[in-house]
Amino acid sequence: MKIGIGSDHGGFELKEHIREYLENNNIEYVDYGTKSKDSVDYPDFGKAVAEGVMAGEVDRGIVVCGTGIGISIVANKVKGIRCALCSDTYSARMSMEHNNANMLALGGRVLGIDLALEIVEVWLKSEFQGGRHERRVKKISDIDC
Ligand code: RB5
Repeated sequence: MKIGIGSDHGGFELKEHIREYLENNNIEYVDYGTKSKDSVDYPDFGKAVAEGVMAGEVDRGIVVCGTGIGISIVANKVKGIRCALCSDTYSARMSMEHNNANMLALGGRVLGIDLALEIVEVWLKSEFQGGRHERRVKKISDIDC
């Protein structure tokens, strides 16, 4: 599984921790930036990761801004993206099992590093359950058409 990661300056520090986590766990990734703490605009990075997911460059995406709100809104504007903003591990697991979320958003100024990495780990290890959830997720996709 290859993961796309991206953030603005507000999420940069957490994004770097996520990058380190992926490296330590031999998980392939593409870093779509940003590459420093300099002020940038979160839509540029949310869009880049979301488009990377939809183009098949990566299988799933993780995006971070200060709150996670702006960058999740951006990601969800890209057709086919289901980006879940999570602050707890239960929601992270459900976002995959029930909603088949192909992107995870986190708030770099909201979460502690340890909790954020636990959320990432749970989300990466979770799988879509299909079944009745398939029908519901399809209804989401139908809105894109
Ligand atoms: C940047 O200051 C901040 O607005 C951004 O990181 C994010 O929280 C937006 O939703």
